[in-house]
Amino acid sequence: MSIGKYVMRIILRSVESSDLERIRRHRNEPVTQRWLEAQIFIDLKSQQVWFKSGGACSFRIIQEGDRDIGLGRLLVSKDAQWCTVGLDIFSEYRGQRLATPAFQAVIEDGLKLASHLDLWVFIANTFAIRTYIQCGFIHDHSTPVKFFTREIDGQIGVHSYVRMIYKQNA
Ligand SMILES: CC(C)(COP(=O)(O)OP(=O)(O)OC[C@H]1O[C@@H](n2cnc3c(N)ncnc32)[C@H](O)[C@@H]1OP(=O)(O)O)[C@@H](O)C(=O)NCCC(=O)NCCS
Repeated sequence: MSIGKYVMRIILRSVESSDLERIRRHRNEPVTQRWLEAQIFIDLKSQQVWFKSGGACSFRIIQEGDRDIGLGRLLVSKDAQWCTVGLDIFSEYRGQRLATPAFQAVIEDGLKLASHLDLWVFIANTFAIRTYIQCGFIHDHSTPVKFFTREIDGQIGVHSYVRMIYKQNA
């Protein structure tokens, strides 16, 4: 993707032990936590156990040029048919329209791992939904919606969490 004369080079790379502090900080930020299905605080010890047991294999660092801009998720199902994808842009890079090109790179890698892609997202997460639709995901109306309590814009409420599928090969 290019913006003016600037060519965006986005790649996904494996998570290294040197990324753990950055990931831990990112995952524990309230603004990230509120959109996670499991709102778990990650401490150093539990993260090290997670890393040593291979938990990071389903995550990638998203790099734009020499900057680490976010975290991609690529979790392949046991039958290897589906890859559940996800996207987080690190807070200092949000709002710079990096989400769509970053997610396109996640999709590309996901399609190397499985023939079908899906994801879960809160309907209230409008910027994420916008990105996912732009990248070719549609709401999967055949999967029941989940509901979770979240505080959004200072209001505690019950919010719907929906499955989306990649329509090119749904
Ligand atoms: C959701 C998330 C990935 C979006 O990344 P981002 O870098 O903030 O988003 P972008 O700047 O690329 O914008 C994405 C879209 O939302 C719009 N947008 C972003 N910030 C906006 C704002 N403050 N006001 C209006 N529109 C906005 C952009 O215009 C863009 O749409 P467009 O391409 O049609 O113009 C990011 O906010 C994030 O990581 N959030 C926390 C974790 C999370 O929610 N992950 C998704 C879990 S399913």
